[in-house]
Amino acid sequence: MTVQTLTIRRPDDWHLHLRDDELLRAVLPASARQFGRAVVMPNLKPPVTTAQAAMAYRERILGALPPGSAFTPLMTCYLCDTTDPADIRAGFDAGAFAAAKLYPAGATTHSEYGVTSIDRVAGVLSAMQDIGMPLLIHGESTDPAVDVFDRETAFLHATLQPLLARYPRLKVVLEHITTAEAADFVMRDSSGRLAATITPQHLMFNRNAIFAGGIRPHYYCLPVLKRERHRLALRRAATSGLPAFFLGTDSAPHDTTAKESACGCAGIFSAHVALQAYLTVFEEEDALGRFEAFASDNGARFYGMPPNRETITFHRRPMRVTEQIDLPDGRHIRQFLAGETLPWTLA
Ligand code: NCD
Ligand code: ZN
Repeated sequence: MTVQTLTIRRPDDWHLHLRDDELLRAVLPASARQFGRAVVMPNLKPPVTTAQAAMAYRERILGALPPGSAFTPLMTCYLCDTTDPADIRAGFDAGAFAAAKLYPAGATTHSEYGVTSIDRVAGVLSAMQDIGMPLLIHGESTDPAVDVFDRETAFLHATLQPLLARYPRLKVVLEHITTAEAADFVMRDSSGRLAATITPQHLMFNRNAIFAGGIRPHYYCLPVLKRERHRLALRRAATSGLPAFFLGTDSAPHDTTAKESACGCAGIFSAHVALQAYLTVFEEEDALGRFEAFASDNGARFYGMPPNRETITFHRRPMRVTEQIDLPDGRHIRQFLAGETLPWTLA
């Protein structure tokens, strides 16, 4: 018999861009309605590089929450070549930072202040290893000679493998994985200290979507969508129930003029529909019974945080995804799956 309702422990989003100011106020309610907690990315302009900046950003997020919301933002530190290990320790001990984010300099949106070589942050990484603070990695090679579709795989061998060998107890999340190679890499590690987040777009689409009948900037994100065989491998990983894989939407809003441009920004805004999109994938893979592990259990366990106590319920009722959300200044943000209908509605 077809399942008509599904109740699971309230999920968390382990990779989210909330931006700031007007954009923050426009996008935050969607995440707050669905998720208990979210790991908030620090790639603001300027980036969040100090505990003081993280605490101030958290206050702005809390100030933008709808009344009565219990949503908890988990703040991250943007690592630079100059990050001081003592500040990382102090920020983690004080609860200002839940994790630190490593952007290889130039790898993605607002990553120009990122790390130019792992050696530059050696002291920071050993401090993080000592205190059990997770390192979140944007895993793409920035070598201009590497093809854009091969950047993740190149990173695994050239950077991640040596990093893991050098810091054998460091907790690492490989963010938004996009390839079969990355999924295999994470699966092969049996230590429990390596995990990966997976986005809804990488489970639903391959790179053809970017070029279907013309160039489609709203399917452009980083790491870029890959071939079908990678999408299928990611679907197997996400629905495997393995504790190393968990939900991270990478919802990354940009207004439509920034996306629909001669040099459009990378990032897909999925916050409103992410859960229904993931759920659709799990159902297609006949894995509804493993949805809660991916969405609500595995991430909290990896981060050493208690699972959420509340639940959420989905109903089998078609939901049409609205095209866009409007900003007060007249700009718009186009939504992932705009105009499509998904089979589940969140109560
Ligand atoms: C993100 C953004 O816009 O901040 N863009 C994206 O395509 N995912 C940055 C990132 O996570 O790489
Ligand atoms: Zn991101």
